[in-house]
Amino acid sequence: MCGIVAYTGSKPVMPILLDGLKRLEYRGYDSAGVSVISRKKLKTIKAAGKLNHLEAKVDRNISAHCGIGHTRWATHGGPTDENAHPHNDTKKRFAIVHNGIIENVEALKASLGKATKYNSETDSEVIAHLLTQQTGDLASRVLAVLSQIVGTYGLAVVDQNNPDTIVVARNGSPVILGIGDGEMLAASDMSAIIRHTDQVIHLDDGELAELTPGGFKVMRMDASITNKEAITLKDLNAHYDLDGHPHFLYREIVDQPGTISQTISGRLDERFSTAHLGGLNLEARDLIGVKRITILGCGSALYAGMAGASMIESLARIPVVAEPAAEFRYRNPVIEQDTLYIVVSQSGETFDTLAALREVRRKGGFVLGIVNSVGSTIAREVDGGIYMHAGPEVSVASTKGYSSMLVAFSLLALLLGRSRDISPQRGTSIINELKQLPQHVQQVLALEPDIAKLAKRYKKSSSAFFIGRTHGFPIALEGAQKLKEISYIHAEAYPASELKHGPLALVTKDTPCFVVLPNDDLLPKTISSIEEIKARGGPVIAVTSAPASESERIDKLAKAVIRVPDTGELTSPVLFGVVFQLLAYHSAVSLGRDVDQPRNLAKSVTVE
Ligand code: AGP
Repeated sequence: MCGIVAYTGSKPVMPILLDGLKRLEYRGYDSAGVSVISRKKLKTIKAAGKLNHLEAKVDRNISAHCGIGHTRWATHGGPTDENAHPHNDTKKRFAIVHNGIIENVEALKASLGKATKYNSETDSEVIAHLLTQQTGDLASRVLAVLSQIVGTYGLAVVDQNNPDTIVVARNGSPVILGIGDGEMLAASDMSAIIRHTDQVIHLDDGELAELTPGGFKVMRMDASITNKEAITLKDLNAHYDLDGHPHFLYREIVDQPGTISQTISGRLDERFSTAHLGGLNLEARDLIGVKRITILGCGSALYAGMAGASMIESLARIPVVAEPAAEFRYRNPVIEQDTLYIVVSQSGETFDTLAALREVRRKGGFVLGIVNSVGSTIAREVDGGIYMHAGPEVSVASTKGYSSMLVAFSLLALLLGRSRDISPQRGTSIINELKQLPQHVQQVLALEPDIAKLAKRYKKSSSAFFIGRTHGFPIALEGAQKLKEISYIHAEAYPASELKHGPLALVTKDTPCFVVLPNDDLLPKTISSIEEIKARGGPVIAVTSAPASESERIDKLAKAVIRVPDTGELTSPVLFGVVFQLLAYHSAVSLGRDVDQPRNLAKSVTVE
């Protein structure tokens, strides 16, 4: 949420900041701004709206070699020029960019007195004014200010009187340093750094770094120096772009046969008909000791977790619950030794998921992570886990990330199942199912023209329902999530069995009902739910892997039928998911929505 980039060195700073902001724009796109030091003067330029508004205002060729930039997702104060970061003190000596929330902002403002005039409604601006009250070098001033702050921050500061120094600090919001040759960078996300260097350092909470072109110094909040080792980034796709596709979302949907293969690669153990997941840091005897599993995540990661819960419970016969991370952490959860906790996150930076992870570990629980972003905060803080290896996901709506989460859960379900009751034969058949999954996804992608037609037919609907039963219900939740997130069509998901307990009252000829209809034991019952919808005049769109014997009946009941390959309980959620991704994508395109950066949202939600 919000992106920070900073550079000090010998190169012209403005193109580096603008390029960094472009790569960070998915983290927030309400406004953007930069502060650079040019000919000993601090210059701050900012603009509400997307980055192109800022680009139109700045001089790319300005003579400046040190600066900071920010792209904002509004928390305190609307998306205006004034509320855009960076913020300055009254005399415009300091400029700050801030991610996070300052909880004691009113007390801090009171301490500054009534004479201080604020130019914005943000909580962040107070930091710039507080800096003027301190003495010493920039790092000492920042340390003194941070000692007064209650809240979270990823922070970068420049000072006109120290024209090549940048100070950054972290508490709850990621800050990464990039070490170059005669230059230093900092950013809230690797994507803004990887074009310049592969040497990076992750700041931990409670750390501050002073950057100059010649190097860096990391300190704790008590000003003691801490030695941090740089890590070398490997296998990072530095040039992730549209690759000829109209939107990142589209690229991320159609790339899935490849990204799913990457998640599976090297993890199938055909000899023992199980999965090989070395990163779990769990021995076989630990696995059989697991009595319960709790899965935690937010948004689509939660829905993937719900699907994962169903897979693990069914295959390994371990009771599993999936819960919203933000609710779990605040209900003083009971943490048990024989419960395995799993946090799920594409970005690895979602604040609520991270906070839940910390709460479990604080109480002594063992936590695994299913994470995409290598080296992210969650990945670094878990006891073990599964990297998704899905590559960068830029579009705000998760697609390939979500699918790879499902695949990671399939692998874990296989491993846990084989460590308990399932036979080698069943293990082998699951391995075959997983090996064929990329091809099956390709087959679903080939249905795009039919799905696009459906999207056009129902794009005017003001509401849509998604229904499914047992393991079909999390798929329905994710289907509704995708549609509302990027097309802004109101969509709700229900277990099919719940319709008659209330929601059926809303079904009319204008509310399309997308039904998840896998070839499972509940197929006849879900078909009965379709009858109920049809009897009320609701148009049913069946997405199904039902066998030929049921085809005629389903064809009669449904206005449209999308047929996906009949695979198995572990992999079918991915196939249904891809149908709903294409549906949401084409609905959004035909409605002229901002597909990659939907209104009010941001990719990485690093605030509470
Ligand atoms: C997905 O389409 C959403 N944009 C959102 O719900 C997302 O899944 C959620 O914020 C969790 O993100 P994470 O996987 O990076 O933790």
